[in-house]
Amino acid sequence: MSVLAIDAGTTGVTALVVSGDGRIESRGYREFAQHFPRPGWVEHVPEEIWQATLAACREALDAASSAPGCVGITNQRETAVLWDRASLAAPRPAIVWQDRRTSGVCSRLREEGHEPRVAELTGLRLDPYFTGTKLTWLAEHDPRAWAGVTSGSTVLGTVDSYLIARMTGGARHVTDPSNASRTLLYSLEERGWSEELCALFGVPMTALPEIVPNFGEIGRTDPAAFLGLDLPVSGVAGDQQAALFGQTCFEPGDVKCTYGTGSFVLINTGSEIVRSEAGLLTTVAWQTPSGEITYALEGAIFVTGAAVQWLRDGLGLINTAAESEAVARTVPDSGGVVFVPALTGLGAPHWDADARGAILGITRGTGRAHLVRATLEAIAFEVRDVVEVMTGAAGLPVPVLKADGGASANDLLMSMQADQLGVPVERPVVQETTALGAAFLAGLGAGLWSSADELRKTWRLDRRFEPGGRDDDSYARWRKAVTRASAWA
Ligand code: G3P
Repeated sequence: MSVLAIDAGTTGVTALVVSGDGRIESRGYREFAQHFPRPGWVEHVPEEIWQATLAACREALDAASSAPGCVGITNQRETAVLWDRASLAAPRPAIVWQDRRTSGVCSRLREEGHEPRVAELTGLRLDPYFTGTKLTWLAEHDPRAWAGVTSGSTVLGTVDSYLIARMTGGARHVTDPSNASRTLLYSLEERGWSEELCALFGVPMTALPEIVPNFGEIGRTDPAAFLGLDLPVSGVAGDQQAALFGQTCFEPGDVKCTYGTGSFVLINTGSEIVRSEAGLLTTVAWQTPSGEITYALEGAIFVTGAAVQWLRDGLGLINTAAESEAVARTVPDSGGVVFVPALTGLGAPHWDADARGAILGITRGTGRAHLVRATLEAIAFEVRDVVEVMTGAAGLPVPVLKADGGASANDLLMSMQADQLGVPVERPVVQETTALGAAFLAGLGAGLWSSADELRKTWRLDRRFEPGGRDDDSYARWRKAVTRASAWA
């Protein structure tokens, strides 16, 4: 039996058919449009995500040598989606995790003194990143759409819930604890939606999905809705937790970093809810059908790959993201240029919703290669910021970092990363670890695999990047540049 794994990411949907030995049989991919109606706003059209999902799955299935026996789903997290319970049509665009429009709502709630209690219940903080304030904003600014929510005809969810609703022809309105724990509405201690938080953010609990474990019987695809397929949906997780699973980071202390639109460093903390005062988030990694929860501490960095994408699409400095490596290698260093890619504010560990991008140190000798190299360096610096907090304030050793995601293919970036961290960076053969994690969960849920050990055996090293000398001078300059970009908007 093989598994169809769907990774509905921020800029596109990847579908993989994964065989029983963890190999990728085939893949499909579709990008979908990003909408920026105002500075700082980011929206997606749910129907476009769904159409991209169908097209990516069709492409992967057409090229596969076996017919999958189950489906796993993973997704961009926190993005707020509304859809009609009966027709499944979305009445308005989704508000994406990167969207900053609710920084005012966050300030208001902070001024009212709610932040400590919110942090205590959720392990998160008051930042526009999370779903909760996006829903508060909708209630206040889109009364037409919100009327459906209060009357019960419109339901709420994240992208996982929306896709499962579409795939099951509306039969299931569910999410999982890894996604739920990113909404600001889920209580870590109660292990479910919190009445207190729903009241604070003004969200009717009846509109929220049922929370189900990360693998097992989640739903069944409706052939009329989903490519003629009648398959169990047996695994689901938010993309960063799925990547932690796909990297087989099953033991407390295992750490991974996924280099996607943003970069997300997660450390498995086992059955313990570890809290951080220093800017890391406490989150659910996964929950088994028997109810055991594994937690993680997360450093969420908003813009890394998206900065490379901006060099390509916004500035036209490169033609493809992959070209960034060759261009950066044409110069020995960034020539003193520091780029702070706070294009949607700064996440961990700075948490400054009003920071904006800054490029410092430009001289008449600065060329495009310096800026491209400074962008790669910025990614390595941002990840170092987070790992320094993990090893420092949080006291968790990081002896090695497992890397994955699109930009992990960039050898220059990986060696810069090892240098900045002063520890080895390991890249697996399969770098689409997010989708692989969804496949692992679904395969466990459907009985294709039965233990973590079996999955661990499928992990293969592609390359290990050993650290050279740690460059503390360039890092100090980066830290100074971050202070210049802060509180700009
Ligand atoms: O929290 C946001 C994250 O889930 C988005 O991941 O891979 O789409 O950048 P990605």
